[in-house]
Amino acid sequence: MGHLAYYFLPTILLLALIRKYRESKWGKCTNAVQLNGKTAIVTGANSGIGLEIAKELAARKAQVILACRTLDKAKETCIVIQQNQNNASVIPMELDLSCLKSIEQFAEDVKKNHKEIHILINNAGVSYPNSRRIETIDNFEIHFGVNYLGHFHLTNLLLEPLSNTSGKSRVVVVASSLHERGEIRLDDLNSLQVSHRANLYANSKLANVYFAQQLAQKTKDMNINVYACCPGWVYTGLFRHTIKWYHFFVITPVAFFFMRSARQGAQTPIYCATEPDLENETGLLYRDCKHYNSKAIFYDNISTKLWIETENMINRVLNR
Ligand SMILES: NC(=O)c1ccc[n+]([C@@H]2O[C@H](COP(=O)([O-])OP(=O)(O)OC[C@H]3O[C@@H](n4cnc5c(N)ncnc54)[C@H](OP(=O)(O)O)[C@@H]3O)[C@@H](O)[C@H]2O)c1
Ligand SMILES: *[C@@H]1O[C@H](CO)[C@@H](O)[C@H](O)[C@H]1NC(C)=O
Ligand SMILES: *[C@@H]1O[C@H](CO)[C@@H](O)[C@H](O)[C@H]1NC(C)=O
Ligand SMILES: *[C@@H]1O[C@H](CO)[C@@H](O)[C@H](O)[C@H]1NC(C)=O
Ligand SMILES: *[C@@H]1O[C@H](CO)[C@@H](O)[C@H](O)[C@H]1NC(C)=O
Repeated sequence: MGHLAYYFLPTILLLALIRKYRESKWGKCTNAVQLNGKTAIVTGANSGIGLEIAKELAARKAQVILACRTLDKAKETCIVIQQNQNNASVIPMELDLSCLKSIEQFAEDVKKNHKEIHILINNAGVSYPNSRRIETIDNFEIHFGVNYLGHFHLTNLLLEPLSNTSGKSRVVVVASSLHERGEIRLDDLNSLQVSHRANLYANSKLANVYFAQQLAQKTKDMNINVYACCPGWVYTGLFRHTIKWYHFFVITPVAFFFMRSARQGAQTPIYCATEPDLENETGLLYRDCKHYNSKAIFYDNISTKLWIETENMINRVLNR
């Protein structure tokens, strides 16, 4: 018994120290900026990183719209937030990013009730195995459709209330450092050819970063700043479709050392949404609450063509 404790306790202590050391590298949003009188939208705010962002923005006294696929669940989430935070101003709204009609309806309702939007967090996202093609209601490949194209359309529809604010408003694009493994196939953006299905999630995240860069250029004179960020590797339900139960034997120890809690993962998006030091920055990428230098190479010609082709794809669905 005695010698067991002799080895066991130091081991636990060592593991805990390694975890603490790793956590210290992840960055924390340390500013105390309050958001009284400001309105924020968080997509995919029912779970994971989005939920933690919504809670923090509400705690900083913003009015927060939880833009979620399931309205009933969003209503429950709002009740829970209000139970934990006196006077939290949270509004549940329905937004299905896999459906352009739903996005248009959402944007219309938002604009009816809110003349100004100060913060838009494009957080919602999906990850599925690449073995089988899954499509959105509008027949877009699901990663491309939800993670990228849906947010592209949503953001463009909200430019008016975003630019109608007294101070600068902020669009935060939650991407991923996996974008570095992505590819933009301009000849097959919708990944219809089987050979193009290598890493659809990474491709959508690369498209997210291109979008943030291009949007930043287009909104330079519109009172809007754009920030792309990677939350880090976070323990959420994101990979529930790709991970099997037996993977957990491997994942549990790895997660202990390398994975952030949702609250820790929310730090960089919150930093991008609030940090005063970033007030004159737009179009850049952040991770661990600081700049992140992407290993990806970005091409201007791809950036402009991707934007135009995305608009065309949207217009084709909407018959314009
Ligand atoms: N977890 C990580 O390690 C990691 C790493 C890098 C980047 N990210 C990014 O972080 C973001 C948040 O992910 P998470 O890790 O917090 O995962 P999560 O817990 O699965 O959250 C994703 C959210 O997106 C929502 N969503 C999915 N499809 C939607 C649709 N069609 N319309 C509207 N909302 C939809 C989900 O709603 P439901 O609850 O209805 O499904 C959920 O609330 C994603 O953009 C992800 O790519 C995550
Ligand atoms: C909560 O809101 C009410 C009215 O909106 C206000 O009178 C009250 O002071 C607020 N309480 C706190 C703790 O902020
Ligand atoms: C901009 O906001 C003001 C109030 O803050 C409102 O009166 C005006 O109608 C808004 N403009 C647009 C185009 O929504
Ligand atoms: C941003 O620019 C304005 C105007 O040039 C300047 O007053 C302000 O100090 C700058 N803020 C930061 C954080 O650099
Ligand atoms: C973009 O430009 C690079 C070099 O600047 C070139 O190699 C590439 O073929 C171009 N791509 C497209 C799609 O035009």
